[in-house]
Amino acid sequence: MQIRFVLNEQMVIVSGNGSGTLLDFIRYEAHLKGTKIGCREGDCGACTVLVGTLHDEKVLYKSLTSCLTPLANVHGKHVVTVEGVNINGLNKVQESIVTHSGTQCGFCTPGFVMSLTGFALNGTDSDLNAAIGAMDGNICRCTGYKSLERAAQSVLNDIHSIDDTNRTNSLIKAQFIPEYFSTIAEELATIEPLSVVSEAIIVAGGTDVYVKSHDDVSEMSLQFLSAKPTYDHIAISDGQCILKPNTTVSELMVCKHVLDAIPGWYQYLKLVSSTPIRNIATIAGNLVNASPIGDLTIILLALNSKITMTDTHQNQRTIWLKDFYKGYKTLDKTEDEIITEISFRQPESHTLFNFEKVSKRTHLDIASVNTAIAIETRDMLILSAGCSVGGVGPIPLYLRETSKFLAGRKINVETIHLAEQVLQKEINPISDARGQKDYKRLLARQLFFSHFITLFPSLINLEDLI
Ligand SMILES: Cc1cc2nc3c(=O)[nH]c(=O)nc-3n(C[C@H](O)[C@H](O)[C@H](O)COP(=O)(O)OP(=O)(O)OC[C@H]3O[C@@H](n4cnc5c(N)ncnc54)[C@H](O)[C@@H]3O)c2cc1C
Ligand code: FES
Ligand code: FES
Repeated sequence: MQIRFVLNEQMVIVSGNGSGTLLDFIRYEAHLKGTKIGCREGDCGACTVLVGTLHDEKVLYKSLTSCLTPLANVHGKHVVTVEGVNINGLNKVQESIVTHSGTQCGFCTPGFVMSLTGFALNGTDSDLNAAIGAMDGNICRCTGYKSLERAAQSVLNDIHSIDDTNRTNSLIKAQFIPEYFSTIAEELATIEPLSVVSEAIIVAGGTDVYVKSHDDVSEMSLQFLSAKPTYDHIAISDGQCILKPNTTVSELMVCKHVLDAIPGWYQYLKLVSSTPIRNIATIAGNLVNASPIGDLTIILLALNSKITMTDTHQNQRTIWLKDFYKGYKTLDKTEDEIITEISFRQPESHTLFNFEKVSKRTHLDIASVNTAIAIETRDMLILSAGCSVGGVGPIPLYLRETSKFLAGRKINVETIHLAEQVLQKEINPISDARGQKDYKRLLARQLFFSHFITLFPSLINLEDLI
């Protein structure tokens, strides 16, 4: 296969299986050593680069971890490393980091520079929390983060004067990016899409596949779902919210169709990994990975989602997500089936939804126990409920009995106590690195209570429940 992309200023053509990582290509083939190798597991952000995708004649840039990105996934795109932003000297972000003493040994600095430059290019958010959020995948062991936060504030001040009507030119003038960015869209338009091998092993964002078996995967022939040039991944049809298989966590996080009904949606999804991982991690990848604590899986189970699978002969079938999990990492899916659609009823204003996750640290950590609830009520009566919980058994669990129990009952302390007893009978936690089984039972109980305290604050309070 021939992979073409623009690396900083230059068009690059690479022949091969496309399974090696973008990081290895950047450092060992292109000899651009500014991009660093830290953990190789998506955890440190030292390898962060920007990748721009052409859409409607504009190039949209996202930060991502190059250590988990197969080279084929950047076909047709613009890859920007730290060398590509400071061609005419330090760019505005680098200047801000230096001025505010945000760098010491410098190992993490290229990653921070790329995340903040990505924030400047993106232009959608404009407060300090968003600027700091853009660096949530970058770890620094030297500076303490206050100086980096001051650098972010200074970047933000400079961004406020950027003219959105021609953002690229305005950013060039303000010395955030070099001049060559203005011709990238034309160059990307000349690249034909990659033809995807259909019988090979599937990889989407690669954030699970590459973490598990990095070196082995690089030698394999893979089917690169995220290399397909598809856009507008989320649509509404017949009251259903429909996600294409390449929908990323970042895209779902800002999905207006959901946000309108569930105001906390953005914050819930912010608990999933970090910005550069969310930018590439797909929803389908989370479902098929079948981790008992997959956050998206737990959320989509509560929303009573369906998945559609298509095999190599184009046969299609649709099943409930709750029927997909048969045992630990065992799925109702044949080897040649691909998830081609994920759907759930578009949440409406009367849909109440809550997600809770307990992990050792708030961001960039997997859950010990996570749980979600989607509930519809009228006059304090529960019309329907969907409850799910992760980390308390071999599969991400839809709580069938608890959900059934809640439907048709009044919302009060007694109902919640009785429902929690049903929940305890449905779960079967084991002791492992994330906690003892009794602790997980306790978490499941507290988080279940927390759903009701959060959703019905005037009716249910903590003191009444414990
Ligand atoms: C640093 C880090 C932090 C993370 N934090 C979290 C977290 O907080 N919460 C969380 O839930 N997860 C987390 N993850 C896990 C991971 O990011 C998610 O599970 C992600 O959604 C996987 O998507 P992907 O596209 O990268 O999957 P890939 O790695 O590309 O694929 C995963 C599996 O899905 C299969 N697959 C992918 N797409 C399809 C499809 N359309 N049809 C059939 N099979 C398919 C692949 O063959 C593979 O078996 C984290 C990962 C990393 C590296
Ligand atoms: S090397 Fe640590 S995130 Fe890539
Ligand atoms: S400056 Fe040393 S790790 Fe960040």
